[in-house]
Amino acid sequence: MKQGIKKAIFPAAGLGTRFLPATKASPKEMLPIVDKPMIQYGVEEALACNLTEILIITGRHKRTIEDHFDYSYELEASLKKSGKKKMIEEINRLNRINIAYIRQGYALGLGHAISRAKPFVRDEPFAVILSDDIIPPEETLLKDMVKLYKELQCPILALEQVPMSEIHQYGVVDGVLEKNGVYRVRDLVEKPDAADAPSDLAILGRYILTPDIFNILEGSKPGRGGEIQLTDAIKKLLKTRQVYGYLFKGKRYDAGSKFGYLKATVDFALKNAEIAEPFKQYLFEVTRKLRQ
Ligand code: G1P
Repeated sequence: MKQGIKKAIFPAAGLGTRFLPATKASPKEMLPIVDKPMIQYGVEEALACNLTEILIITGRHKRTIEDHFDYSYELEASLKKSGKKKMIEEINRLNRINIAYIRQGYALGLGHAISRAKPFVRDEPFAVILSDDIIPPEETLLKDMVKLYKELQCPILALEQVPMSEIHQYGVVDGVLEKNGVYRVRDLVEKPDAADAPSDLAILGRYILTPDIFNILEGSKPGRGGEIQLTDAIKKLLKTRQVYGYLFKGKRYDAGSKFGYLKATVDFALKNAEIAEPFKQYLFEVTRKLRQ
């Protein structure tokens, strides 16, 4: 029987060093893009694909993530007093999401984080969402991948063509185009130098994986940067099954970098009904001054 996907895993135990000192005591995943923390965009993306069983892999200093998706009695009481009905609805929407948490303990890399999900995933295929890759809600990347999984029943990695000057920041795929944006993966390498990169096809923070990855992860040794790399485990998986890449041509923000984070903030602010107009005016002013 062909299996569908219900589970989404959010690794969120990283140290967020690129945003220090903001991330010294609060998680990177809770940095807001306009009025929602980064991780909420990813969670909403999962829910929009009917991935309703969510696991967040957390670590020390990440308790605010759990609080964010939990009921807040004091807040509701205070909003009630001031008659903010709409905001109560919005806040309560978050408490209704079914989220499980597992702690990673040691931040030993993405592969290690995913290995912690084994008791939650058991024998089902699952999606992995890296919440600092923000994909606007109008894009259908994850939906397309879930659909493609139903057909292929094989792991699928989201791919994006990136300039070779940026390729060293990504896992990179060597693939053969099979049909419309679908590549059969032949090899993968984590964060290669441009000269050694097999292509310009970078892995994005969206994966569909199968539970056979766990046995491989359990025996994995540290790779690039001394971390247990998911890319290395997927490379090993190639020996036993086919893995596909799905080329994404839409909009994506690398909100794990300061520049990408600011781009996401500006674009989402321009789409936010409450502030779009005054913000646009402000941007006009700023850009006019910059041009002078
Ligand atoms: C991780 C993966 C990398 C992938 C990237 C996508 O790297 O290890 O293969 O290309 O996410 O965002 P990170 O950005 O966590 O260093």
